[in-house]
This record gives sequence, structure tokens and C-alpha cells, in this order.
Amino acid sequence: METKKKSSFTGSLGFVLAAAGSAVGVGNIWRFPYLAAKDGGGLFLIVYLALILTFGFTLLVTDVAIGRRTKTNALHAFGSIRKNWSFLGHITFLVPAIIMTYYSVIGGWILKYMVTYVTGAGHQAAQDGYFTGFISSKAAPVFFMLVFLSFTAFIVYRGVEKGIERFSRIVMPGLLLLIIGIGLYALTLRFEGADGQLRTGLQGLRVYLVPDFTGLTFSRFLQILLDAMSQLFFSLSVSMGIMITYGSYVKKDVNLNRSLSQIELFDTTVAFLAGLMIIPAVYVFFGTEGMASGPSLMFVSLPKVFEAMGPMGQILGMVFFLMVVFAALTSSVSIMETLTANCMDIFHSDRKKTSLVIGALSAAASVIICLGYNVFYFEMTLPNGTAAQLLDLMDYVSNSFLMPFISLMTCIFVGWVVGPKWIGEEMEASGHTFSRKKMYNFMIKYVMPLVMAVLFLQSTGVFSLF
Ligand code: PFF
Repeated sequence: METKKKSSFTGSLGFVLAAAGSAVGVGNIWRFPYLAAKDGGGLFLIVYLALILTFGFTLLVTDVAIGRRTKTNALHAFGSIRKNWSFLGHITFLVPAIIMTYYSVIGGWILKYMVTYVTGAGHQAAQDGYFTGFISSKAAPVFFMLVFLSFTAFIVYRGVEKGIERFSRIVMPGLLLLIIGIGLYALTLRFEGADGQLRTGLQGLRVYLVPDFTGLTFSRFLQILLDAMSQLFFSLSVSMGIMITYGSYVKKDVNLNRSLSQIELFDTTVAFLAGLMIIPAVYVFFGTEGMASGPSLMFVSLPKVFEAMGPMGQILGMVFFLMVVFAALTSSVSIMETLTANCMDIFHSDRKKTSLVIGALSAAASVIICLGYNVFYFEMTLPNGTAAQLLDLMDYVSNSFLMPFISLMTCIFVGWVVGPKWIGEEMEASGHTFSRKKMYNFMIKYVMPLVMAVLFLQSTGVFSLF
């Protein structure tokens, strides 16, 4: 049997890069822009930014500090502090298990687009109906999902995350530059719609940045809040055990304050810029009606931007999707790594066998999700009012339902059972001051439990009964 290695990051940079690798993924590039478009652009942005600085920071601090202080993974962390709270660690485990089932499906979509551009067929991707045609076909999405999942499982099987992390040091800055470049280009677009109306990229920018309060009701505001909050959980990889595990690898002398702020800043910047790249373009080609198109947003609007760029666009499209595949891979590896590490722990099995079993189970579950666009097709209305298929349903269950619940329990645990001082001590263990300490204590004790309880109820749809 493999001896258990106690790995640790070499310094704060190693930690920041690894955590950012997990955090920056399809959540930033695919999920954030479509939520921002659906939830009124600027309004969503303001809500999201306010939440990241308060709630996001509190959740990230809590996870990482629990991990570093207990020096153990999420499965045992809560139980090691208070025996009768070990159930929380087990529920936490459910989240990456659910996310894994659909993350690789989206990874497969991105891979398909990359291949499309590599083979010089980028023009086809810009045609109307290309994306829907692809996801509703039976074999292709399953094939690409399996390829993506195999890469993920291979990396986890070989335990070579370190190698891919080194690689992501090149890919991440490259991706950022490309997103900025494409975003700037998108602002110069002009298009005359079928209705004869000329729409420009700059008008699209206004739609993205300027908050629109027309027709805003309390219930709609709660929906936006829930969407923003679920995006925040997903994007920062918090409340799902990952950051607890990463925290357990961080050395005592690392200044957590600074590292966590950097992770937060980087993750939010990538998401904001991805919106800048996608939303004005959607507006130009599809007007405001195009904003509600949900998960297909990136796959439909970006190919049109690349098409408008001429021959250069085909090359850019190829490089872009290649980089996004990498960003998705670093995140999916972190999800599968968590599942594998937890199962190795529960079943006392070795890495190779465990990762193969997890890979096979994930593949089976993801095939079902792929078939959710044909064989198992259904359409239901979620409590947040959006029409959902199987993939969206899984996304909703993990991010909008389970995560507020886990956060609620974690806040009660930290705020009222062990006390926020316990976290504060860990934040200051390196001799640095915990700069947002007062806010943290207030948030974790009072604001978070209340808001999480409301959001959890909102996610079940009870408020719509009144
Ligand atoms: N944070 C990742 C993203 O934004 O794409 C997704 C993710 C990674 C979710 C790791 C869950 C996870 F455990």
C-alpha cells in the first residue's frame, strides 16, 4: 500500500496558485457571464462584488483557517473540533460528487469547440443552431466528455497535479491576456439586426455595467441574491471541502490575509473580464432577448465574435478554447482529487484503485447528464424561475440548495459553537494582523446565519407560496 504523504505547499505563492487553479475555471468563464446576463447585468455585478468582499471573504477565511488549524481534510476537520459535528464533513462531500457529474460534461463541450477550431471548422461553430445541434446529438457530447474525464482521471491517478500546476502558471496569465484582448475587440463590434436596428459593442458594455432597476421586486431581488451567492460558492470553490483540504497544506508562517485577498481578487477579475468579453457580444448579435439564453451563452456568442474577426479569429478561437480546456482541467482535477482523497480515507484503499473507481462512476453519471439533452430530456421550472434540464438541475441542487445549507451550518458552528476567536487566532498565527477581523466576527455570528437561512428557504421555493 502506498504510504500516506503529508504534502504541503512550499510557500504562499504555491498556495495562491493552487487555490486559484481550483477557483478559476468554467465557473468564471462560462457560468458568471450567463448569470450576469440573465440577472440584469450591472445589478448582478454590484450584488456579486458586494457579496464577494463580505460573504466570499468570510467563507474563504473560514474554510482555509479550519483546514490549517486542524491539519486535516473536510471529512475529519469538523469532527476533530467537536465530535458531534462530524456529520457536516460528510455532507460537504456530496457537493464535489454532484459537481463532478456535470463539470466534465461542460469540459467536453469546451474540448469539442477546441477541436472544431483546430480542424479549421470554426466557421461552422458560428452558425445558428450549431451548439444545440451538438449537445442534443447522442454520441458526440458523450465522446468528448469521456475524453475530458479521462484526462482528469489520468492526472489524479498518476498524482501529477504538481506538473499541471506548473503548466497553469503559463496558461493562466495567457488566458487573462487573451480575455482582455477579445473583450476589447468585442467592444468595437457593430451589427444590424433583422429589425433594422444597429447595435454596437459599446451599447452592450452599458448593458453589462449599468444597473437596471426597472421592474425589480423583492422576490426578484432575492433570486438575484441567490444566483450571485451560488455563483460565489461555486467560483471560489468554498463550502465543499476543497479549501479546507488546501488549507491543511498551508504552512504556519504564510500570511493568510494577503493570500486569501489575492485569490479573491484574481478569481473575481477573471469572471468580470469574461463577462466583458461575452455580454457586449451577445447584445450586439442577439439584442436583449439573447441575454436569457443561459448555459449556451458562451458557446453561441463567442464563435460569432471570432467569425467577425476574420482569419485571425480562427486562430484566436483555437488558442482560447485550448486555454479554457486547461483552466477547466485544473478545476476538475481539484474536484476529483478531493473525491479520491476522501474515498481513500473512508475505504483505506490506494490512490490508483480509488481513482479508477471514481473515474468510472463519474463517467457513468456524466453519460446520464449528457443524455439529458435527448434521451432523458425534460424541462422543468426551478424555484428561481429558470427553465432547467438535467444539467441545470444538478447545478441547482449543489450550488443553490446544498451550499447555502452547508454554509449555514458552518457559520452556526464557527460563530456559536467554537466561536470566531478560534478562527481569528489562526489568521494571526503567522504574526500578521487579521485586517477584516471585526467584519468577520460580525458576519459569521449574525449576518451569515440569517442570510443563509433565507437563501436556503428561497432555494426551496417556499417564498413563492406567499
Ligand atoms: N471553482 C471552479 C470554477 O469556477 O470553475 C469550479 C469548482 C472547482 C467547483 C472545484 C467545485 C470544486 F470543488
